[in-house]
Amino acid sequence: MAQEQPTNYGEQWFAEAAERWGEMPVVIECNLNALKEMETQINKRGLDWKQLSVLEVGCGAGVLSLELAARVKDVLAADPSAAMIAKLKERQAKAGVTNVETLNEAIERTEQLEPASRDIVVISLTLHHVAKVEELLAAVRHCLKPGGLFFIFDFERMEDQSNFHDDFDTTAAGVHHTSGYDRALLTEMLAPHDLKVVHAEKSFMMTIPKEMMDQAKKTESEGHGHEHGHSHGHGHGHGHGHGHGHGHGNTGPFPILCAVAERV
Ligand SMILES: C[S@@+](CC[C@H](N)C(=O)[O-])C[C@H]1O[C@@H](n2cnc3c(N)ncnc32)[C@H](O)[C@@H]1O
Repeated sequence: MAQEQPTNYGEQWFAEAAERWGEMPVVIECNLNALKEMETQINKRGLDWKQLSVLEVGCGAGVLSLELAARVKDVLAADPSAAMIAKLKERQAKAGVTNVETLNEAIERTEQLEPASRDIVVISLTLHHVAKVEELLAAVRHCLKPGGLFFIFDFERMEDQSNFHDDFDTTAAGVHHTSGYDRALLTEMLAPHDLKVVHAEKSFMMTIPKEMMDQAKKTESEGHGHEHGHSHGHGHGHGHGHGHGHGHGNTGPFPILCAVAERV
């Protein structure tokens, strides 16, 4: 299990992943599922989409941010990976989208965010990579308007506390991960930050595609590939880093939790 503190945000690894991230069917499918869930929750509350100001934390190549941008007033898309942000910008330019701003940062320093400026904050398939969760939650609290919504999509914590990340030791690649979240854990974590969990249900399933697993195995057989900056040019997924030779190849499907918290 890779639970040590990372030295960075896994930029080298995510830079390699960025190459194909936004085109991978599983990434597109998961983010469209997340979008559908957001539509249900937002429509249920009768919010006016065209008035919504959104922050996406860990936006990656911007699959969700660009979909949201077509529906809302504006989107701030943030990610510590410069390569992911570059991919987002490419796709944004192609689509002619003008209401997305980018921030090449992990959202942990609240001073860079305007207070009470966002109606929605969303973090999709990324919270399990965030080491400084307390800082992140303080930042979410800081920039959400009172009554604003915080959406989390992430691996549901399993009884044995495992997800496929646990097949690989990603610490050497600087990629932190946890084993996912459930309602009780999120409720406890979010409450001190004035974020009240009002919904937490299994939303959709994620199956890790063969190309992600193959890449993980390849990386592993090459030893410390990422530390030496290998670039394979295609198909990096979550499964990466150095394995310990146990339980490899669990492609799921893994349940993805949708949690919604209100800023009280
Ligand atoms: C698994 S990808 C998900 C990207 C995107 N949300 C999606 O679903 O396609 C995780 C992303 O989180 C970013 N990331 C890593 N550590 C982070 C942190 N501490 N805060 C915010 N984002 C982080 C990575 O750079 C990467 O783009």
